Amino acid sequence: MEPQLASKDDVPSILAIFRTCFSDEYFHSVFPPTATGDAYLTQAFTRFIDPSQPGQIHVLKNESGLKSMLLWFTETGPEKTQGWRGRGWPSPYEGMSLDKIQEFYGAMDAQHDAAMGGRKHVYIELIMTHPSARGQGHASKLVRHVASLADGRDLYLDAQGHAIGLYERLGFKVVEGIKMSELMTPMMRSASS
Ligand SMILES: CC(C)(COP(=O)(O)OP(=O)(O)OC[C@H]1O[C@@H](n2cnc3c(N)ncnc32)[C@H](O)[C@@H]1OP(=O)(O)O)[C@@H](O)C(=O)NCCC(=O)NCCS
Repeated sequence: MEPQLASKDDVPSILAIFRTCFSDEYFHSVFPPTATGDAYLTQAFTRFIDPSQPGQIHVLKNESGLKSMLLWFTETGPEKTQGWRGRGWPSPYEGMSLDKIQEFYGAMDAQHDAAMGGRKHVYIELIMTHPSARGQGHASKLVRHVASLADGRDLYLDAQGHAIGLYERLGFKVVEGIKMSELMTPMMRSASS
């Protein structure tokens, strides 16, 4: 399997993988596991596939289905980083909590801006591999692919604790002293590394 840009047909599979990957109480409070929550995420993923939007989704898939996906954005500087609304995440739908969404993205956006504000870089926002396809190098392949498209820019992401080792093996380092999100640790991969 080689990385390719996602198409609109991939959106239901991307949503299904998201629901298997982020299924605890906390994520359900941000993205309710309801028709409304699913409609919100469907709108978001559909928007990121639109080439006129700043985000891009790369996927690995074969005849048995979609295995892994990575959502990324380019930040061109010199202004602040874009923030979740600027990146195209929709406003919450009725029945969703703006406070929860704001708390989730707000802390990550703040540490992202503290680390990278004003600098050209690539922001990796979301990586997921279907539980049945993990440990086969899919996420690593997608990160390396996006790094190859980064045109000499640094890469930044916010890592859940269990994924820090994976990103360290891919050349990322924890950005010390700016962590504001309880859940997510800021990490950067220098283009020169
Ligand atoms: C983190 C994640 C994207 C890794 O995907 P992957 O395709 O299995 O990644 P790779 O095969 O390239 O690398 C596997 C590494 O991920 C780590 N890993 C985390 N959870 C794992 C799991 N359930 N199964 C296998 N490896 C896992 C291991 O450290 C493993 O390291 P290794 O190379 O020493 O074996 C995947 O576990 C996932 O989707 N998790 C849920 C969503 C998530 O947490 N996304 C990242 C948020 S920062």
